[in-house]
Amino acid sequence: MLSTKMENALNEQIKNEFSSSFVYLAMSAYCDEQNLAGFAHWLRMQSQEEYGHAMKIFNYIQDREGHVVLKAIPQPESQYGSLVEVFKETLEHEKTISQMINELYALAVEEKDYPTQVMLQWFINEQVEEEKTASDILAQVKMIGDNTSALIVLDQQLASRSPESEDK
Ligand SMILES: [Fe+2]
Ligand SMILES: [Fe+2]
Repeated sequence: MLSTKMENALNEQIKNEFSSSFVYLAMSAYCDEQNLAGFAHWLRMQSQEEYGHAMKIFNYIQDREGHVVLKAIPQPESQYGSLVEVFKETLEHEKTISQMINELYALAVEEKDYPTQVMLQWFINEQVEEEKTASDILAQVKMIGDNTSALIVLDQQLASRSPESEDK
């Protein structure tokens, strides 16, 4: 049985993951408008991945016979100044999410909720990957600067991202 405190915090994280999904979808639309189909595709896949994260917690609450509460998702930005800005925001966003996951883990320790600690370990590993991917792409976008041919190459590379299983 989940404690009320743990259940509330997990429901809040469902909202945060859906909110991430919305942010990446908005960024995808921006890239599509800039004719960067590869970036748009990559961000769309990222949005789907975040949906998967939300559902992972959703399913977990149900497995523990808890009560799922879906909260309102904030409206994401619809305008971005540049690609560099998109990936700066992505990196900052993922750092914030990592912090949230760490706080959830700390609460699970405090509550002596061992199953939730095990479930959250997956997210702790995932956040290491998310921050690395965001900072790698940010570094590349910065390096590219105004070099259009290099930008086209990266756009093509990002176009090859395949949909991931809900585990990723
Ligand atoms: Fe996530
Ligand atoms: Fe990921």
